[in-house]
Parts: sequence; structure tokens; C-alpha cells
Amino acid sequence: MRLHDCYNFHDFRRLAKRRLPGPIFDYIDGAADDEVTLRRNTASFENCDLVPNVLRGVETVDISVTVMGQKLAMPVYCSPTALQRLFHHDGERAVAAAAAKYGTMFGVSSLGTVSLEELRKAHDTPQVYQFYFHKDRGLNRAMMQRAKEAGVEVMMLTVDSITGGNRERDLRTGFSIPFRLTLPGMSQFAIKPRWGINYITHESFKLPQLDQHVDMSGGALSIGKYFTEMLDPSMNWDDVAEMVQLWNGQFCLKGIMSVADAKRAVQIGCTAIVLSNHGGRQLDGSRAAFDQLAEVVDAVGDRIDVIMDGGVQRGTHVLKALSLGAKAVGVGRFYLYPLAAAGQAGVERALGLLKTEIERGMKLMGCTAVAQLSRENLRFR
Ligand code: LAC
Repeated sequence: MRLHDCYNFHDFRRLAKRRLPGPIFDYIDGAADDEVTLRRNTASFENCDLVPNVLRGVETVDISVTVMGQKLAMPVYCSPTALQRLFHHDGERAVAAAAAKYGTMFGVSSLGTVSLEELRKAHDTPQVYQFYFHKDRGLNRAMMQRAKEAGVEVMMLTVDSITGGNRERDLRTGFSIPFRLTLPGMSQFAIKPRWGINYITHESFKLPQLDQHVDMSGGALSIGKYFTEMLDPSMNWDDVAEMVQLWNGQFCLKGIMSVADAKRAVQIGCTAIVLSNHGGRQLDGSRAAFDQLAEVVDAVGDRIDVIMDGGVQRGTHVLKALSLGAKAVGVGRFYLYPLAAAGQAGVERALGLLKTEIERGMKLMGCTAVAQLSRENLRFR
């Protein structure tokens, strides 16, 4: 199986599984507890049917959207995800280049493996900086200042990771940074020599967003430990209100699910919220963002940009979310498997296929612009 044999999410996932050492594949693929929410995220799109209109003259369709003040050529962006150079040696460089090619936004994680400054210089396309709230308030201010100076357009604070999710696949393999693997975990690396050679022969693994501020040299700082030891579980609305003021620009909360919280986000001056359950990786049993979308859009959609992520695998999933009122849709695993499978070429192929699916879906729905998608064209079962 090669890249040109990949036509959908499942094909890329299969190819990624072949290329990646097991613990790394499971880190991407896995989720919390029983992974119920992970499955639910995609399944939720199937509770809802599209009802097309026909004979509307659809020779050209415009799938561009404006979200958080950013004009995107397609309504899907690459959500920030951690540790990308572990998945492919080009990591964020490949994802940012592919996003730029398709005129869309990409996210850089606090746990990213390429610096936000380097990516900012390399591409003009809008950049989101995913931020965690640390116990050290000085560190928070310094990190925001740095992002501001680099010219990052959007600050995206993750609010659903106040403690690490229970990811049992990672517990079994011993996945941590740097690697401190269990014996079975280690043998998985031995059977993927190509990944190992690439990892060793490319620039050494770093977390440039953090390593100026955090001493990562002490060895195994697992993701769980980073979450529990560095991040501040006392974070509250007042802290975030202060950050929003300080940032003084596009500020988005990622991981809002309730209407009450959506309203508070409006009150403190956020310009967007992402309905998200972190790809099912945090609170298992939490509702799918798609299922919660209508309620939140009805409550705050006229005052704030409502975005969603989770489970998106098809152009029609995107159309359903936009029809309910989402301003844009984020994807994570959708581009991470292609990244692992084939680097930049993989991510480009995945985004290209998704773009084609969205355009085809729009035509079959009888819509020539995203604004024409509405709940009139949706029926829940
Ligand atoms: C995760 C964090 C790092 O889901 O976002 O693994």
C-alpha cells in the first residue's frame, strides 16, 4: 500500500499504522478510558441526514469562510497537535506547508516540535497558537508575548486538559517524552527500522515552545506529568479574562461544551470557541461536539464564532457541521495519519481529497456558497 492508494481517512490510518512504531501509532489513535467518545465523535454525524436541493446551477462553488477574522480558502483547518516530528521527521513543517498550499490555517502546539517563529516566517497562512495555562504566571505572560512578537494571529487556549486523560494504550506501551518504554513497547521500535533511521538522522527532538522556559533535560517528563505538574488546575474564568485582555486580539477557547460556558466566553471577550472533547482523549463519555453544536450556536452564534472539531473524516461531515452553524471545522487525526504515512505529500493529499469532497458535496446539495448551507437541509433521525 502506497500514498496513491489512499483515498480516505481509513486508508491513511492503515498506512500510518504500517510505518509507525506501535506506541506512537497508539498515542495518536488512542483516547481515554473505553474510547466511547472517540467512536461517538464520528458516529454522531450519522444521526443526521442531508436533504439536497437540485437544479440550482452549481458550476462554480465557493467554499471559503472567514473565521476569527481569518479568510480561509476551505472551511477546514489543521488543529494544533503535539509532538508532530515524532510522527514524521518533517512534523509541523510538513503540516504548515500543506495548510498554506490549501489556503487554510494551522495550529502550533505548546508541545510542538518546531518553533512557532520558524513556521511564521515560512508561511503566510494564518497560524493558531495552542496554549496551556501554566502554574507559573510569568511563564504564561512570556509565552504569550513571544507569540505576539512572532505575529501569530490567533491565541487558542485549551480548557479541557486541566488534568491528563486516562489513556490506557499509552500506559501499556510506556509512551512518554523522551521515550521511556516498556519492553514490549521497545520491541515495536525495533520492527520499524525506517522510522528509527529517520528519527536518528534528523534534527534531534525538541519542544521549542517550552524549552526556553521549562527544563526538559531531567529525562522522562511524560505528557501526563507535564499536565499534572506544570499546568494549573486552579485556572478559572478570571485568569482567562486577564489573558484575553493581555492578548488583545483573536482569542479562542478550545474545549467548551456547555451553553453556560459558551456565554461566559462571550462575556470575557473571547472571539471564538471550539466545541471539542479533545478527540475523545480527555473526558470519556463526554458528548460529541457535533451533537452539542446546534444548542451552542443558538445561544451565542450571533456574538462569537462557533467552531467544532472531533471525528471529522468526510466532506459531508464538514457540510453537516457548517449547516448547523459552525464557522469552520478542525481536524486532527485526519491529517496526522497522512503526515505519518507520507509527510507533506500525505497531508496535501488528505487536504486535497477533503476539499474535493466538500466541493462535490456542495454541488450535490445545490449550494454554491457556504452561507447557503442551513438547517433546512438537515434532518435528524
Ligand atoms: C494530547 C495532548 C497533548 O491529546 O493534546 O495528547
